[in-house]
Amino acid sequence: MKTILLNNGVEMPLLGYGVFRVTPQECERCVSDALGVGYRLIDTAQAYFNEEGVGNAVRKSGVPRQDIFLVTKVWISNAGEEKAAASIDESLRKLKTDYIDLLLIHQAYGDVFGSWRAMEKACRAGKVRAIGVSNFQAGRFFDFAHYVDIKPMVNQLQCNPLVQQQGIGPVLAEYGTRMMAWGPLGGEGAEGVVGSDLLAAIGEAHGKTAAQVALRWLTQRGIVAIPKSTHVERMRQNLDIFDFTLTDGEMERIAALNCHDTGTVNFGDPQFVKFLIETYG
Ligand SMILES: NC(=O)c1ccc[n+]([C@@H]2O[C@H](COP(=O)([O-])OP(=O)(O)OC[C@H]3O[C@@H](n4cnc5c(N)ncnc54)[C@H](OP(=O)(O)O)[C@@H]3O)[C@@H](O)[C@H]2O)c1
Repeated sequence: MKTILLNNGVEMPLLGYGVFRVTPQECERCVSDALGVGYRLIDTAQAYFNEEGVGNAVRKSGVPRQDIFLVTKVWISNAGEEKAAASIDESLRKLKTDYIDLLLIHQAYGDVFGSWRAMEKACRAGKVRAIGVSNFQAGRFFDFAHYVDIKPMVNQLQCNPLVQQQGIGPVLAEYGTRMMAWGPLGGEGAEGVVGSDLLAAIGEAHGKTAAQVALRWLTQRGIVAIPKSTHVERMRQNLDIFDFTLTDGEMERIAALNCHDTGTVNFGDPQFVKFLIETYG
């Protein structure tokens, strides 16, 4: 598996497996399948309610713990120094591990500076190897990164050929923060990306699918991608992207697909914030 280096020297796989909307009942089987076909990065979150399934699958996999890169996220209801600290211990318990490889603040709401202090402490205590944020858009990210002691190693954002996040690139670069793409195939349904005629045509030239082209386009630019599938054949397909290279011309044609640079979710909409807090809180 190809890897990238984070700004604290931690090595992170360039491609992983995400478990958003994978039910607690199905999660252990899915993560077992994913580890079985070769994924070594698993992305979960407190708000996915499936950390235990991830932990069970890792435990039973026979893969050495140090070969697996576990990512989880602190949810809004656990924001603040004390609550975040307690939630980290709870995540460790559910994941059945004594360290998390990458811990992210899931959303830019609530006492994120308090959460960050708890995450910095967890990092220094060896409970966490790297820390970062998710869904912090450019201005919010800058305000946050400017004032914290340990600079975020990762910002996990919606990113795919239709949502390219080009605007935030220079801001992340200023802090050595790497981008990690959620929804790399377009998300639930994934029609726009996996149904793209251009990606399908480019894929045909390489003997690959539109989904593989989307994942290759991200990883070829050093962006970590974490596609989700509950189907083992698709898990295999999504992992099989390192034996071809997109040409400069193909990369440029894909860049022209960008139509929602900062994402399809309006994080500034109070109704959306209310929904997030009330639904998963
Ligand atoms: N930080 C955040 O706020 C945030 C938000 C969303 C997601 N995430 C993370 O990012 C991960 C991935 O994002 P996502 O789950 O929203 O979306 P995604 O990975 O872009 O797309 C998943 C969808 O694509 C389908 N699919 C998978 N492989 C395919 C293929 N080869 N061909 C055609 N369709 C395919 C899946 O269906 P099947 O399962 O039926 O195969 C599913 O409907 C999540 O699981 C989660 O870990 C983070």
